[in-house]
Amino acid sequence: MSATLAPPAARSARPAKPQATYSPQTLRFGALELPTRWLLSPLAGFTNLEFRKIARDLGGVGLGTTDLVNARGLLEGSKKSLELIETGPGDSPFAVQLFGNDAHLMSEAAKLVEGRGVDSIDINMGCPVDRVCKTGAGSKLMQDTSRTTDLVTAVVNAVEVPVTVKMRLGWDDKQLTAPDFARRFEDCGVTAVMIHGRTRAQGFSGTISLPGIAAVCDAVSSIPVIGNGDVRSVEDADRMLKETGCDGVSVGRGALANPWIFRQLVQWETTGSYDPPGSFADRMELLKRQFGDLCDRHGEERAVPRFRKMAHWYLKAMRVRAELRGVVQQAKDRAEFDAALQRVWDEGPIGQLTRTGLLPDMQVPVPKGPVERW
Ligand SMILES: Cc1cc2nc3c(=O)[nH]c(=O)nc-3n(C[C@H](O)[C@H](O)[C@H](O)COP(=O)(O)O)c2cc1C
Repeated sequence: MSATLAPPAARSARPAKPQATYSPQTLRFGALELPTRWLLSPLAGFTNLEFRKIARDLGGVGLGTTDLVNARGLLEGSKKSLELIETGPGDSPFAVQLFGNDAHLMSEAAKLVEGRGVDSIDINMGCPVDRVCKTGAGSKLMQDTSRTTDLVTAVVNAVEVPVTVKMRLGWDDKQLTAPDFARRFEDCGVTAVMIHGRTRAQGFSGTISLPGIAAVCDAVSSIPVIGNGDVRSVEDADRMLKETGCDGVSVGRGALANPWIFRQLVQWETTGSYDPPGSFADRMELLKRQFGDLCDRHGEERAVPRFRKMAHWYLKAMRVRAELRGVVQQAKDRAEFDAALQRVWDEGPIGQLTRTGLLPDMQVPVPKGPVERW
């Protein structure tokens, strides 16, 4: 069974990239052509290499980005930062997101990641977390026009690869600085802007402002604007495109609940209809693959605790009984984890649902985001 929704009218003519089955609209970040206009948003702790590969293999992802990476940490050789920028075959096009408030350190970090072959560099101006804002980085950058413009200019001048900025609407509803910044960033050579339709003061609460995103689209002359926030379905993306005039859409939490969403978006824009997301059995396969890949990269001991948060999402979406989900969460090593998964498989989803049939619409609760420590 497939759902139908009329495809969007093209905002501007763009060269179509030939593909075996579909020809989605592409997007340009300067010299970099993205295969689709549907981007995976960075979600610290989730959108790691293993998850990016899963989403990409399912199809439709135009760009995958790392979690926010501390520019200073990277330059000091922090193991955590270096791990975050690891990539591998199939993880392309690939962006590293840097955060910091020092123009020199940010430029040096940008050069370092460029030297490792990254396709584009994103500057974080959206992180609302106190620990980051207190250092003058993340959303805090949106309160200092001249210093921030200087920082962005320095990064753009330091590297050849495209530089983008991901920001919020502003610090709070009295300081909606995003349109002004977007215009300035375009002037200093930024190749695209991603805009999460909330202010820093909102954290992840309330709803996104589509007019706020539209104001950013209106402010720039030619660079693409990527709308972001609360997109969990093709219908949400359609609304975002229509009501804001944005050029592409970036999906974060919606992709954890439904990693098929990018493929659905491409199917929809090219055919007008799209397949449902995967079944219990499909999700079990992805879960096992992601966990296996994580074990290969980090070793079992580190992979088991690291995978808990992600396993929670998979199992909720698979409609696994709460008590059994708890058993998976308590697994201390790979053997216990595998045994718990076997129980999950044997029992299957709750109620009348089957392992291979359609699961009901996602009931995965939307996390409240880092501000509220979900
Ligand atoms: C757990 C979590 C971690 C996040 N980490 C980052 C990050 O590292 N960098 C960033 O720019 N945004 C980060 N975000 C914000 C998302 O990229 C996105 O802008 C926001 O969640 C709204 O989009 P969504 O509703 O599609 O998730 C994070 C959000 C959450 C919930």
